Amino acid sequence: MNPEGMKDIKTADASRLSKSSKDSKVTLIAAIDQNRVLGKNNELIWHLPEDLKRFKRLTTGHAIIMGRKTFESLPKVLPNRHNIVVTRNRNFIKEGITVCHSVKDALECAGDKQPFVIGGGQIYKQAIGLADVIELTKIHSKFEGDVFFPKINLKEWIIEKEERMVHTDFEYSFITYTKK
Ligand SMILES: NC(=O)c1ccc[n+]([C@@H]2O[C@H](COP(=O)([O-])OP(=O)(O)OC[C@H]3O[C@@H](n4cnc5c(N)ncnc54)[C@H](OP(=O)(O)O)[C@@H]3O)[C@@H](O)[C@H]2O)c1
Repeated sequence: MNPEGMKDIKTADASRLSKSSKDSKVTLIAAIDQNRVLGKNNELIWHLPEDLKRFKRLTTGHAIIMGRKTFESLPKVLPNRHNIVVTRNRNFIKEGITVCHSVKDALECAGDKQPFVIGGGQIYKQAIGLADVIELTKIHSKFEGDVFFPKINLKEWIIEKEERMVHTDFEYSFITYTKK
């Protein structure tokens, strides 16, 4: 059992999204700079406590879907969430996580009305076409990085909410996009 008391599923083999997962509100959550940079050398670049608090508040109690590289970058399995890791490695097993072999399979086995896709670049790219909501933290500054969030096509997405904030080193915004 994982920390949420949900049954661990080690593999999933769904090739399409079922009706139940289509009924769910698939949400991407990410923090990016003004050039859509996400990270560098498999690490986050900035330290923004307000963003971490928001991430925790929004994702607690939900399924969180991540690529194997993002999982490896975390210090531990994130508590009070159903941690789902996507990998091509059929032998990948770790305590406290569910392993899936595609983003669609991960959404199938999430068993959640609002599963969160938490990165990284490869997984966001594959998930954005399946998403209903994007919870974005946009940092209005430039950083060097090697992984990027996909472009958000404003013909497909509308800004539902936007809140601009000030940090000591930069300004940033919390933006909620919903699919048109
Ligand atoms: N700023 C943010 O909000 C944020 C959020 C999350 C992550 N990040 C950053 O993003 C970076 C990591 O992103 P990344 O793009 O390098 O890696 P990633 O998306 O986290 O993980 C990539 C891995 O996912 C697996 N994968 C990808 N597509 C798959 C598919 N179709 N089927 C099965 N498995 C698949 C593969 O694992 P295997 O190699 O095991 O097969 C692949 O190597 C780090 O720098 C991290 O800090 C930033």
